[in-house]
Amino acid sequence: MKRILLVTTVAIFTMGFAQADGKADYMNSGCVGCHGTTGVSAIPTYPKLAGQNAAYTVKQLKDFQTGARKDPTMSAMAGLAAGKEQSIADFLAKQK
Ligand code: HEC
Repeated sequence: MKRILLVTTVAIFTMGFAQADGKADYMNSGCVGCHGTTGVSAIPTYPKLAGQNAAYTVKQLKDFQTGARKDPTMSAMAGLAAGKEQSIADFLAKQK
């Protein structure tokens, strides 16, 4: 009984982490200050990222990283999302 309880607890714990991943990646990458906690910025010149197609967001982040797209702010910021582009984009796509 104890064993089943332990396995269940670990499974729920792991599931919670898997779901929170994109959010955590976004929150911990320094994006929130400009783009807001859900990808909706209070500042008009910072684009809204919430609800954007994940594939588009991933491409923009990679383009900023490679220099294919240039912006004084984002070219510097995109590196912080390195390796986490997809999970951040998936999280943002689900926001409103
Ligand atoms: C200091 C403010 C600032 C921070 C921090 C910041 N951004 Fe941005 N972001 C901008 C600005 C300004 C633009 C618009 C760039 C342009 O005009 O090309 C932008 C554009 C973008 C775009 C393109 C949106 C579109 O519609 O094409 C994406 C995607 C993006 N940011 C994601 C992120 C992510 C992910 C992070 C965290 C790693 C982040 N940003 C951190 C200011 C910021």
